[in-house]
Amino acid sequence: MKKIQPTILNKLEKIEIRSPESEIEMCGYFYFRWLILRREFSENIESSKDNFEDQSFHVIAIYKNKVLGVGRIHSLNKHESQIRYMAVDSKICKKGIGTKILIKLINKAKSEGKHKVVLHSRENAINFYIKNGFTQVKKTHKIFNSIQHYLMEKAI
Ligand SMILES: CC(C)(COP(=O)(O)OP(=O)(O)OC[C@H]1O[C@@H](n2cnc3c(N)ncnc32)[C@H](O)[C@@H]1OP(=O)(O)O)[C@@H](O)C(=O)NCCC(=O)NCCS
Repeated sequence: MKKIQPTILNKLEKIEIRSPESEIEMCGYFYFRWLILRREFSENIESSKDNFEDQSFHVIAIYKNKVLGVGRIHSLNKHESQIRYMAVDSKICKKGIGTKILIKLINKAKSEGKHKVVLHSRENAINFYIKNGFTQVKKTHKIFNSIQHYLMEKAI
C-alpha cells in the first residue's frame, strides 16, 4: 500500500462505509457511479443503471456528505450473488476503501446464506479482486466495444 500522509489518514478513518440513507445520498451514489464508470461513454446518468437497482444492496463510502466510493450486490439465485459497479475516487485509490466496500457487500451475501459471489471485472481491476480472494474464471464481454471484462468468483 502507498505511504499515507497524516491528514489523509485522519480523513480515511472518518469515511463511513454504509448503505445510502436518503434520496439525496442515493442521487449522489448514482451520480458517482456514472462519473467514474460511465461518463466517458454517455452523458446520461441513467446509462449507469440496470434492472436490478430496486432489489440490490447498495453501499457508499461517504465523508462530509461527499460520496467517495460505491458498490452494489444483488442475488442471482439461492446460492450466488453478483457484485456490480464498484468504484472509488481516484484521489483515495489504493488506501483500502474498495476492500471495505467489498467486505460489506460480501457480508450481505453471507447473511443471506449464499455460498458464492461472482462479478465481471474490468481488465484493470483484476488484481484488486485477486488480492481480495477472487479467482479469475474466464474472459467475458466488452462494454462499449472497448473495456474487456473477466468473470471472477469467490467462495464465501
Ligand atoms: C478497483 C477499485 C474499486 C479498487 O479500489 P481501491 O480503494 O483502490 O482498492 P484497495 O485500496 O482496497 O486495494 C486493495 C488491494 O488491491 C490493489 N489494487 C487496487 N486497485 C488496483 C488496480 N486497479 N490494479 C491493481 N491492484 C489494485 C491495491 O494496491 C491493494 O493492494 P495491497 O493490499 O497489496 O496494497 C478502484 O481502483 C477503482 O474505482 N477503479 C476504477 C473503476 C473500476 O475499474 N472499477 C472496477 C469495475 S469492475
